[in-house]
Amino acid sequence: MTVPVALEGRLGAAMAGAAAEVEAMLDRLLPQGEDAQSRLYRAMRYAALGGGKRIRAFLVLETAALFNVARLCALRVAAAVEMLHAYSLVHDDLPAMDDDDLRRGKPSCHRAFDEATAILAGDALQALAFEVLAEPDTHSDPAVRCTLVATLGQAAGARGMAGGQMIDLLAENAPLTEHEVTRLQMLKTGRLITWCCEAGAILGKAPPQQRQALAHYGRDLGLAFQIADDILDETGTREQIGKTPRKDAAAGKATLVSLMGLSRAEAHMRFLADQATIHLLTFEDKADLLRDLVSYVITRRA
Ligand code: IPE
Ligand code: IPE
Ligand code: MG
Ligand code: MG
Ligand code: MG
Repeated sequence: MTVPVALEGRLGAAMAGAAAEVEAMLDRLLPQGEDAQSRLYRAMRYAALGGGKRIRAFLVLETAALFNVARLCALRVAAAVEMLHAYSLVHDDLPAMDDDDLRRGKPSCHRAFDEATAILAGDALQALAFEVLAEPDTHSDPAVRCTLVATLGQAAGARGMAGGQMIDLLAENAPLTEHEVTRLQMLKTGRLITWCCEAGAILGKAPPQQRQALAHYGRDLGLAFQIADDILDETGTREQIGKTPRKDAAAGKATLVSLMGLSRAEAHMRFLADQATIHLLTFEDKADLLRDLVSYVITRRA
C-alpha cells in the first residue's frame, strides 16, 4: 500500500513521480547516523519513509506548479508537510489515542519501537518540519518562509489539527451533531490539507483571490477526504487500507458514516468533491491534475 495504489493514467504517473521525488527529499532531510540518539533517527525514518499516498505532498507540488515555483523549493515544503503528517499518524496510533497496531501495512511506530520512542519521534518530526520551512533553501524571501512557518503552526496547532484530535477523542464519550462532526473533521484533517493547497500560493506570492480559491478547494477536498477515510474504515480490508479496519465503530468515534449511514455519507462526500472542483475554475486546464485528484480521493480503495 505504498504510493498511488495502482493508479493509472496521467494522475497515477504524476503521483508516482512526485512520491519518488518526495521520498528522496525526505531521505536527505531526515537525520541518520550512529550516535547516542540514533534509535530516535531510526524511528523518525521508519515513520516518514517508504509509505503513504503522499497526497499532501502532491497538493503542495501541484499548487506550487500553478505559480511556476522552483521544484526544489516546493519539494522541501512537500517533505516538511509529510514529516508533520507522519508525526500526526505516529501520535494518532498511540495507545492513549486510537491504539492502532498497524500503519501503512506495517507495525505502527510504537509497536516497532516502543511508546516513548514513538512519542519522541513524533515530536522530532514536527520540529524538523518547521526547521526545514525556516531554512533559506526553502525560499529566497524570508517573509515567505515566515508566512509558511506561521500558517503551518496555525493549521497544526490547538485551533487546527491538534484541536481536532482533542475533539475527536472527547467525542468518543459524548455524541456530536453532524455540524459538530464536520467542524471536528475540518480541524483534524481539513486544516492541514487546506494548508498544503495554500502553500503553493504562498511560495508563488499568488494574488489573494487565487490563494483563497485554493484554500476553498483544500477545505472541501479535506472534508471529502476524511469521509472517504471513514468509509474505508467501515468497508475496507486490512490488506487494502494497511491499517486495522472497523476501529471507528469499535471506539465509538463520531463520524458522518456513524451519523448518516454509508449511503448518505457517500452522497455528501460527492457533493463536497463537486464543490471542490468548482473552486479550480479560475486555473483552467493548469489545474487538471488537481481535478483528477478529487475523483481519486473519493474513489480510492486505500
Ligand atoms: C490518514 O491520512 C490520516 C487521516 C487524516 C485520515 P492518509 O490516508 O493520507 O495517510 P497516508 O499518508 O496515505 O498513509
Ligand atoms: C487521524 O484521523 C487524523 C490525524 C490528524 C492523524 P484517523 O484517526 O481517522 O486516521 P487513521 O484512520 O488512523 O489513519
Ligand atoms: Mg484518530
Ligand atoms: Mg486513527
Ligand atoms: Mg480513520
